[in-house]
Parts: sequence; C-alpha cells; structure tokens
Amino acid sequence: MSNENSSIHDFDFNLICEYFASIDRQGPGSPEVTLKALSFVDNLTEHSRIADIGCGTGGQTMVLAQYAPGEITGIDLFLHFVDLFNANAAALKLQQRVKGIVGSMENLPFQDEELDLIWSEGAIYNIGFERGVNEWRRFLKTGGYLAVTEASWFTTNALKRSTLSGRTHIPKSIPLR
Ligand SMILES: C[S@@+](CC[C@H](N)C(=O)[O-])C[C@H]1O[C@@H](n2cnc3c(N)ncnc32)[C@H](O)[C@@H]1O
Repeated sequence: MSNENSSIHDFDFNLICEYFASIDRQGPGSPEVTLKALSFVDNLTEHSRIADIGCGTGGQTMVLAQYAPGEITGIDLFLHFVDLFNANAAALKLQQRVKGIVGSMENLPFQDEELDLIWSEGAIYNIGFERGVNEWRRFLKTGGYLAVTEASWFTTNALKRSTLSGRTHIPKSIPLR
C-alpha cells in the first residue's frame, strides 16, 4: 500500500502521542540552543513569571528552570504530556516553581502584563507565528521577552514545499512594536 497521499492526520493519533511522550523533546532543539536563547534574556529574578507555551513533556523547560530564576508555568493541550512534565519537574526537585497545566495557547490563563518571559519552542506554528506573537504580546510586562523557535525555509520555493494537506505555514518577519 502506498502512503504517497497520506497526511499525518490519517495516522493513529494515540500512537503518535505515545511515541512523542517517550522521548525527551517533542520538537527540534537541544539544551545548548535553549541556553543560547536564554543568554539574550536579562533581568530575571526569583520573582519573575515565565510561561512555556506548548511545553510538551518539558525537555526545554527543565533546562530553562535550572539556569533561570523565577516561577515557570508550562502549558500544553495534552494531559499526558503535562503529567510527564510535572513528573520531570518533581524528579529534579523543581516542583515548587515549575508547574505544568493543561491549556490552550489560543486561550492563555494569564493577566495582561503578567509575564517577564514567554518561551515557546517548536509550538507556535499550531496557531501560526504571526497570530501567536500578536495574541501573546499583551501578557508581557514592558521590557519582557518573547523567545520562540519557528521553522524557517532556506529556499525560494517554500510555498510549494510547505504545503501539507492543503495547509500552508509560511513564516515571515513581523515587527513586535
Ligand atoms: C512540536 S511539540 C514541541 C514541544 C516542546 N516545546 C519541545 O520543544 O519539545 C508542539 C507541542 O505543542 C502542543 N500543542 C499543540 N497545540 C496546542 C495548543 N493549542 N495549545 C497548547 N499546546 C499545544 C503539543 O501538544 C506539543 O506538545
């Protein structure tokens, strides 16, 4: 049987979740890359409020928590990922300041200007880069930081190659202010 015309939506979703739950990270990235991005963020203190949106099981969150002070809330749509996130935080004795909750990046449970840092590795694509940046910025304090990773094309025919099941994701630069 040929899978030529299949998309990810045709596969067993539970199987996909089970696979991704069994690995340290659910997206591209590494501790080195997380720490490199964190090196651009300053002024964090033990009172800082940080959110990791689309945190998965928290591979990058735990790295962040070990190098950045403050309270971190991880948010993910999937309970199983969040349960693993909280187990990982407990295993590292970080549970007092690192908590995972189930929620959607489309309806974040924060107040305006509550956060010092919004972190999101390999997840903003779920609502689109431009929409994510525009909707999340209001949760940042003045001078706060937004750190996201997003797929980028190094080709001139990205439109053709990024089409999957009729959906296209074409990252572009937009000004924050
Ligand atoms: C590619 S994974 C990246 C996970 C993690 N940030 C990492 O780098 O390992 C994308 C994550 O976004 C989560 N996600 C998808 N849609 C979401 C939504 N609407 N709200 C919150 N999380 C969502 C998925 O459950 C998944 O954990």
